[in-house]
Amino acid sequence: MHMHCENGVCRMVDDDEPTGNNGTAAEITIQICSGGNCFFKGAGKLSDTLKKVLGIAPGQTTEDGRIRAEMTGCLGACNEAPAVSINGKIHGNLTPERLEELLKSL
Ligand code: FES
Repeated sequence: MHMHCENGVCRMVDDDEPTGNNGTAAEITIQICSGGNCFFKGAGKLSDTLKKVLGIAPGQTTEDGRIRAEMTGCLGACNEAPAVSINGKIHGNLTPERLEELLKSL
């Protein structure tokens, strides 16, 4: 287990976690907020969209090791719930359709 920081976002990473081609943690980290506001405004549907588009659930990494997804606590963007962070950039007021567009652009 070690600390991995990327674009100002730090997290603990298992040493045996699937990694990108360069041997580091995933290139892209998606964090779905599981805080109260986001939960009540549909964060669960965003997890479904993640699964549909990338084939992974929070806590998993794509087969190529490029994209990692996880649930996280409040991102501090409650007024834009539901919110997701992609490599530290907050995307708020998300609908499943908007998240799908974002994920397809990665
Ligand atoms: S509860 Fe999701 S950003 Fe605060």
